[in-house]
Amino acid sequence: MTDGKVRINKHLDLSRLPTHIAIIMDGNGRWATRRGLPRNMGHKAGCENLKKIIQHIYDLGIRYATFFTFSTENWKRPKDEIDGIFNIVRDYLNEDAEQFVEKGAKIMVSGDYKKLPSDLVSAIDNIVEKTKNCEKFTLNLAINYGGRDEILRGVNQAIEVGKPLNNQEDFSKLLYSADIPDPDFVIRTSGEMRVSNFMLWQMAYSEFYFTKVYWPSFSPRDLQKALIDYQGRKRRFGKI
Ligand code: IPE
Ligand code: IPE
Ligand code: MG
Repeated sequence: MTDGKVRINKHLDLSRLPTHIAIIMDGNGRWATRRGLPRNMGHKAGCENLKKIIQHIYDLGIRYATFFTFSTENWKRPKDEIDGIFNIVRDYLNEDAEQFVEKGAKIMVSGDYKKLPSDLVSAIDNIVEKTKNCEKFTLNLAINYGGRDEILRGVNQAIEVGKPLNNQEDFSKLLYSADIPDPDFVIRTSGEMRVSNFMLWQMAYSEFYFTKVYWPSFSPRDLQKALIDYQGRKRRFGKI
């Protein structure tokens, strides 16, 4: 997280913000390529932007934020790119752990993170443990995360218990996101208009926002613009 005061757009109603915002941070690679830089420079810039946007979400008073950091399909990328992403995330978590505690921000993870390299697993375990009693804000990092993988895991847990689930809430409790509400608002950057296996169960009634801006360039102002759009929506949940 980084400190920095950002002006609030006068059209943004701070009393009607989403409880949970989820972001598919896409376009790091293209951001770098367009500048003649290696893709991993895009991931580095993406991580710097992640810090900035987390701070802004926190400053606005939004309670929960999920960021799609690495998908179960991203293992298909070249090894040096994957290693680069993991190193960037590890360094970020190690460097900012104390700041999260000071700000009352709890870090949680969605995804099979134990399969990540051991130095990253330790960084995650350390920050999750350190921030476990923080209650002001919850940051959910989706890392080695896939929506179908998560659902399959839930189904297998249910089978192990051996009796039918009573309702949808009972199934929600078997997912990584058991302790947090479903996302109200999902943003995807970079112009792609797809879900790419993100929070399939939880997004049943989320509002979506797509922007062409590549993730490293997605600014607090862009975030406010998206939130103003969200506030213009009428969420019906099947009702009239
Ligand atoms: C998103 O940016 C970050 C991860 C998937 C880890 P990309 O790396 O997918 O960037 P593009 O889509 O290739 O531009
Ligand atoms: C989705 O982006 C995953 C993350 C942002 C971590 P991708 O770049 O992997 O998605 P596709 O492959 O374009 O669908
Ligand atoms: Mg991409």
